[in-house]
Amino acid sequence: MKIKNICCIGAGYVGGPTMAVIAQKCPEINVTVVDINEKRIAAWNDEDVENIPIYEPGLSAIVKEARGRNLFFSTEVDKAIDEAELIFISVNTPTKTYGIGKGMAADLKYIELCARQIARVATTDKIIVEKSTLPVRTAEALKNILDNTGNGVNYQILSNPEFLAEGTAIEDLHKPDRILIGGDVDSEEGRKAMQALVDVYASWVPKEQILTTNVWSSELSKLTANAFLAQRVSSINAMSELCEHTGADVNEISKAIGMDSRIGPKFLKSSVGFGGSCFQKDILNLVYIAKSYGLNEVADYWEQVIIMNDHQKRRFAANIVKTLYNTVSGKKIAFLGWAFKKDTNDTREAAAIYVADHLLNEQADIVVYDPKVKAEQIYADLEALETHSSDEIHRRVKVVNTAQEACKDAHAVAVLTEWDEFKGLDWKAVYDDMLKPAFVFDGRNILDIQKLSQIGFVTSVIGQAVKSKKTMKEPSMAN
Ligand code: UDX
Ligand code: ADP
Repeated sequence: MKIKNICCIGAGYVGGPTMAVIAQKCPEINVTVVDINEKRIAAWNDEDVENIPIYEPGLSAIVKEARGRNLFFSTEVDKAIDEAELIFISVNTPTKTYGIGKGMAADLKYIELCARQIARVATTDKIIVEKSTLPVRTAEALKNILDNTGNGVNYQILSNPEFLAEGTAIEDLHKPDRILIGGDVDSEEGRKAMQALVDVYASWVPKEQILTTNVWSSELSKLTANAFLAQRVSSINAMSELCEHTGADVNEISKAIGMDSRIGPKFLKSSVGFGGSCFQKDILNLVYIAKSYGLNEVADYWEQVIIMNDHQKRRFAANIVKTLYNTVSGKKIAFLGWAFKKDTNDTREAAAIYVADHLLNEQADIVVYDPKVKAEQIYADLEALETHSSDEIHRRVKVVNTAQEACKDAHAVAVLTEWDEFKGLDWKAVYDDMLKPAFVFDGRNILDIQKLSQIGFVTSVIGQAVKSKKTMKEPSMAN
């Protein structure tokens, strides 16, 4: 079976980049990405490719190359469904905010709506691919809806989780560690559908890196991968607090343990806390699934990863308050960065949101600079927490266009995102513009602390004891 037309429902952070790369690598396949959000589709179609709605290094060049050739963005969902042999479902699956499983389970309403829409429209057999991260056994629910409400056509459901990380999405898509495809391995039809998807990826991914499994293993592998990655960050963050009390340096610990080939060096960077749309949501979902099978110890084990992450964000804010003589009321705190990590404009679950919220509780004034996040997004993130009125947020939080401007007249600077440009700032000029003593809180471990202390800053870095000119005893400082 040869795929000629692909439809992807959902033009977000997963659907957009993934389909752009499939279109780039498979010029013989027509790829149509559809979304109900007209504004988002209009942005994907913007004449100037720099205005596409998602910022990812390398993405705009691919869109420029393939858009209009075999890559299309459209709001005509029904038409694209009908024309495609293979349909990716890439819609959002947020944590439920109501009813049973509130705050834990994945909200599958958007997935179900897609399934019902496909069932209503499809007049030919379809392969449906779960791209969004979903609870294990969602494929069963999808199949039920499609078979019971459809027009009598045949559906094969595959699970093909996306492992791309934001900021490196294009690189991850071009050179994936592996592609995972789960399907009905016990039936001829199931195996054929899996092969059709294998063939799409085989255009650029070596065959030995394309794994096929049963559908439940595929669904659960994705949750497991994210849980393991998040657990590493929480583990090193737990050690960071111990470092601050013992004089050990968390960077040295990461390096020392990362050289053990059994542990490996990646995902050992201590930070103000992990964010992003996946880690927290997927672990909560895993916890919920474990609980629903009565596996309370399994649930508690994974829940601890989230508890540690919340603690890390809270204690970063608390440390700012404590260091600034136990009050930040009316003080100006400059936030460098808002995105949940560098090289993305995504702010979902960004640590900055929660740190800002804690500081607003203490009546701090916050001035934010992020090179890619728009002011309206920052206000929307804070308003969504519903802990402070919109009025208060607009009064206390300002968003500016340069780092230098954010730091002017500030009592303290806090680094919340590891954007490269923060390393290269003219820190002497920043210092001169700030109130004294000038404090820096590095939540990402990216600044040259020796240099900053020499300039005169009092520095506080995650996983290191507080340093100031007086406390620095290195020989270079004595000279
Ligand atoms: C993650 C997974 O990596 C990806 O495979 C999956 O498809 C989606 O979820 P993403 O959320 O885009 O990707 O970013 P990731 O690079 O994993 O970072 C997540 C968070 O952890 C970020 O806030 C990042 O700053 C933080 N992090 C990561 C650390 O604090 N320390 C580290 O060492 C690594
Ligand atoms: P992700 O990070 O998983 O890609 P996003 O929220 O960035 O999540 O993108 C999901 C997209 O799916 C959104 O743009 C949303 O408008 C779209 N979407 C949700 N439900 C539907 C639907 N039934 N039909 C078409 N698009 C949908």
